[in-house]
Amino acid sequence: MKVVQTIADIRAEVRALKAAGKKVAFVPTMGALHGGHLSLIHLAQKKADAIVVSIYVNPAQFAPTDDFDTYPKTIESDLKLCEQEGVSLVFMPDTEIMYGSGKKYFSIEIEELNKHLDGGSRHGYFQGISLVVNKLFNIVEADVAVFGQKDYQQFRIIEQMVKEFNHDVELIMAPIGRAEDGLALSSRNVYLNEEERAIAPVLFKALKNIEKEIKSGLLEPKLFLKEQQSELKAKGFKNDYLAVFSLEKMWPVEKLEKGNQYLIAVAAYLGKTRLIDNIIFEI
Ligand code: PAJ
Repeated sequence: MKVVQTIADIRAEVRALKAAGKKVAFVPTMGALHGGHLSLIHLAQKKADAIVVSIYVNPAQFAPTDDFDTYPKTIESDLKLCEQEGVSLVFMPDTEIMYGSGKKYFSIEIEELNKHLDGGSRHGYFQGISLVVNKLFNIVEADVAVFGQKDYQQFRIIEQMVKEFNHDVELIMAPIGRAEDGLALSSRNVYLNEEERAIAPVLFKALKNIEKEIKSGLLEPKLFLKEQQSELKAKGFKNDYLAVFSLEKMWPVEKLEKGNQYLIAVAAYLGKTRLIDNIIFEI
């Protein structure tokens, strides 16, 4: 496994792999790797011959009040895990390499797809993500890129960006990796204290309850969503959103129709930790 820092080096390495006839898969991350990231790497392995993982905590997707300065960093164990998983290349640029220091004249704006969910709550978040993923795609030039369903809105926005900007990359979505008790794995779970960690799986249970009710015929789940939200509040969560959304448009849907796929998504704070989770289902 090679660890490279510069754009020239990663380009040369990826181009050499491609020249040798290898199909290259790319897994972008912000490090602090856990089982969820590893499941992306496993899926990448099935789809390609060589894997590139990037580890870069992208300042552009953090608001001033976010946890950029304290975002968990576990570089040594990240590299060990990548090595164990048979990753070929790890790209670890710094911010000077990714953004340079000169004035920036361009940005990426997003219409509609970032109005709700995390886009509605985290101002500038998906512009920052789109910017860095756009750069990373141009730098790494992979054949395939793998993203997690855990951040479904991120996947959807990147999917649209690839289409509209004509990136020559096939996107694959990996299912959500969970702890045994159902909690979605996240680099931020290390922020949870013991008590919070014990309560956290309730979030996934709420999503399952809602899915079950809808599947048994509740096609206007507004009141039930409110009930579940109150239950989460009673357990100690501070709710951000809990609703059913259109998979394509990323807007909330109140009247569900049979034969369609939907996303039930939740974001809630437990103490200072913001947790997100979702289920995609069909009725
Ligand atoms: P990060 O939060 O490190 O996540 C990297 C990738 O892992 C994303 O595609 C995310 O959806 C996926 N992932 C995280 N937890 C997961 C889980 N429990 N199960 C399945 N997949 C999971 O997402 C980012 O970084 C950044 O926004 C990035 C795309 C790297 C751009 O900076």
